[in-house]
Amino acid sequence: MEVIHTVSELRRWSREARKGGSVIGLVPTMGALHPGHASLIRAATANCGRVAVSIFVNPTQFGPNEDYARYPRTFEADCALAQAEGADAVFAPPVEELYPAGAATFVEVEGLSNRLDGASRPGHFRGVATVVAKLLIAAEPDRAFFGQKDAAQVAVLRRMVADLRLPVEIVVCPIVREPDGLALSSRNRYLSPAERVQALVLSRAIRQAEALAAAGERRMSKLKEAARESFAAAPAVREDYIELVDWATLLPVETAAPGTLFAVAAWVGQTRLIDNTILP
Ligand code: PAJ
Repeated sequence: MEVIHTVSELRRWSREARKGGSVIGLVPTMGALHPGHASLIRAATANCGRVAVSIFVNPTQFGPNEDYARYPRTFEADCALAQAEGADAVFAPPVEELYPAGAATFVEVEGLSNRLDGASRPGHFRGVATVVAKLLIAAEPDRAFFGQKDAAQVAVLRRMVADLRLPVEIVVCPIVREPDGLALSSRNRYLSPAERVQALVLSRAIRQAEALAAAGERRMSKLKEAARESFAAAPAVREDYIELVDWATLLPVETAAPGTLFAVAAWVGQTRLIDNTILP
């Protein structure tokens, strides 16, 4: 497995691979890789001849009071995992490589970027869209792999790819969970043992919404109410949002239809966690 640090090297790697007839896959990550990321890399290697995993803690998607400085950085272990899952290259640029001195160009997906996580994290999706555009332009992949775990991010990136007519297919992979239901996240390691227990209310709220929907309940008010009740059982958990939205626009809907996104976000102590489901 190659470790690449510059955009020009990555582009050369990608063009060589394409010349050799390979379909190229890109798995963008911020590192601290866990089995959720591994599932994306596996999906990529199963569907593409050559796969690059990017590992870049993107400063522009963190707010001033967020965890950029203390975000876990586990580069050696990440490379070992990427290699074990069959990745052909890891792209790990220094910050100045993606944001050269004086960088002033950003990608703004209007509207969508201010909904769900974008509402509580101003500027977050501007940073995400900008860095993913840079990664797609650098790697020129045929397919890029993202997790449904970050469902609002998927909506923003699908819009961006459509609007910029980028020649890439976005592939969305299912949420990987701990055996007890907690969605895997690089931020789970911030949780104390007591918070880790309370964090289960998010996945419980998701399962409950799925059960209600399966039993025929389609009303936003009822689905939200049930989730709010599970949240109330955990005093360390503070709701950020509980929403039923159209997955493409992230706008609220009153009645769930097939493909509607039910999404929750909450603070568990100092840690913000998210979870969601696409209703049947
Ligand atoms: P990061 O949080 O490292 O996640 C990288 C990818 O892994 C994302 O597409 C995310 O949805 C996916 N992922 C995380 N946890 C998952 C889980 N439990 N199951 C399945 N997939 C999971 O998302 C980002 O990084 C950044 O915003 C990025 C797109 C790399 C831009 O900086």
